[in-house]
Amino acid sequence: MQTIKIFDTTLRDGEQSAGVNLNFSEKLEIAKQLERLDVDIMEAGFPAASKGDFSSVQKIAQTIKNCSVTGLARAVISDIDAAWEALKDGAEPRLHTFLATSPIHREYKLKMSKEEVIHTAVETVKYAAKKFPIIQWSAEDASRTELPFLAEIIEKVIQAGARVINIPDTVGYGTPQEYGAIFKYLKENVPSINKVSLSTHCHDDLGMAIANSLAAVENGATQVEGTINGIGERAGNAALEEFAVALHIRKDYYQASTRLNLHEISRTSSLVSKLTGMIVPANKAVVGKNAYAHESGIHQDGVLKEKTTYEIISPDLVGFQSNSLVLGKHSGRHAFKNRLDELGLNVPEENIKPLFSAFKDLADRKKEMTDEDLVALVLEEELSK
Ligand code: KIV
Ligand code: ZN
Repeated sequence: MQTIKIFDTTLRDGEQSAGVNLNFSEKLEIAKQLERLDVDIMEAGFPAASKGDFSSVQKIAQTIKNCSVTGLARAVISDIDAAWEALKDGAEPRLHTFLATSPIHREYKLKMSKEEVIHTAVETVKYAAKKFPIIQWSAEDASRTELPFLAEIIEKVIQAGARVINIPDTVGYGTPQEYGAIFKYLKENVPSINKVSLSTHCHDDLGMAIANSLAAVENGATQVEGTINGIGERAGNAALEEFAVALHIRKDYYQASTRLNLHEISRTSSLVSKLTGMIVPANKAVVGKNAYAHESGIHQDGVLKEKTTYEIISPDLVGFQSNSLVLGKHSGRHAFKNRLDELGLNVPEENIKPLFSAFKDLADRKKEMTDEDLVALVLEEELSK
């Protein structure tokens, strides 16, 4: 079984979500929770971006001791210097530097030829290698880059000193098959590829971030990047809790797992949601309010008989208290009777049928039946006698 490293970028790419701006103490609180979650690497910010970012990256690097703290830097000497100053007191200082490689970015954003892009990447990695023990190099917009060029620049940055190579799907454009094939191609066409770890970094513009991350793992990635609750630029990044739980539940298929403390997932998700103000949708996989709620009578009956009929993730695995059988118009008698018993309402068997019928009438008018509704129904039924 292979262990996949988790690189959390909630505090950098996640904070790039529109409308999100975490202050110093909020960032530190999230960093401490990420440490409890046992992420392998956390990207604490972009030190050259602002004084605030510099100070929080520095403080996080000085405080967090059980995982490696990294910071982002463009392929610019002053960014690398700022990152070193912010990270040098960390337990395992690590630089994350990047340069775009795709034709669109080369032509319109960088206005650089292929040769200039290679030269800049190699020179900045060589410079960083004099300071940092570990350098991660990212080929921004890798998934829209010509594969032979991608292979060529990666070989050169490895020679220059990079130890982790990240292949971002920056604009969430790749499909699982295509994206997985990039990793396979690099494995076969970059001579020094086995000297480095390959990392995946997916965005969710087409809703494929998790599928793409898993495809990358199937094709040789050993590090997965993402954010808690999938927050991030535009439609966000791969949601780390979804990735880790998918790998855990399907470990026989993927033959891989992470070191994450899955029980801390619920707490981490709530904290990030509270501090960023980004609400977790009720139907979101793994951490949504409805992820362990069963509404239809058929499902409720199945779950009451044997949970695994409709529940592939046990809520306590990720730190949720328990599943819930939501009573509504689709619920069946079994779940209805079960809830009455849980509430200590000892309704005689012969009264269940009329009570259930009254329940269905009311449920037709209401979205969700509360415990108070059930108590009221039972009282009404008793009073009518
Ligand atoms: O999406 C992206 O390409 C990035 C890079 C900076 C790694 O976030
Ligand atoms: Zn990104």
